[in-house]
Amino acid sequence: MTDAATDLQLMTLDVNGEEHEVLAESRRTLVDVLRHDLRLTGTHVGCEHGICGACTVLVDDRPVRACLMFAAQAEGARIRTVESLSDGTDGCELSDLQQAFSAHHGLQCGFCTPGFLMLAEGFLAERPDASKEEIREVVAANLCRCTGYQTIVEAIDGCAAARRRAGKEK
Ligand code: FES
Ligand code: FES
Repeated sequence: MTDAATDLQLMTLDVNGEEHEVLAESRRTLVDVLRHDLRLTGTHVGCEHGICGACTVLVDDRPVRACLMFAAQAEGARIRTVESLSDGTDGCELSDLQQAFSAHHGLQCGFCTPGFLMLAEGFLAERPDASKEEIREVVAANLCRCTGYQTIVEAIDGCAAARRRAGKEK
């Protein structure tokens, strides 16, 4: 529903499994709605024009740059942000992927980390058997000024290997 005078639009967004009603301008980006309207500030904003990947979230399981998408375009889709990764089970506040980033020193300042986590989460769901070479190609989509990328690749590869081992044990 749009108010023509103000261009305000009432939208319903499914974020991390919860429905949210948001009244926002139709040109408001998804990342702005996530951070400012829903207070999900784990998603970061860097370049604001699709280059750095800091704003990466999952939309219907696919990594998307939330600064390039209008929030209204995400109506009807399942949106996942970095806040969805850990459910706090097993007494641990971090997901297996987050733990792998920690164990392999896949972050330094951490500004880029939510974007890399969601990029990797989406990629591993689709390609659980990905090679290190493929992981290297995927992480090239996002920018990190600190790590030199090698430890990010090791973290994602380590998480994928652990998930495969766990899958075989089941
Ligand atoms: S803030 Fe979206 S790609 Fe940089
Ligand atoms: S850890 Fe600092 S930009 Fe990536």
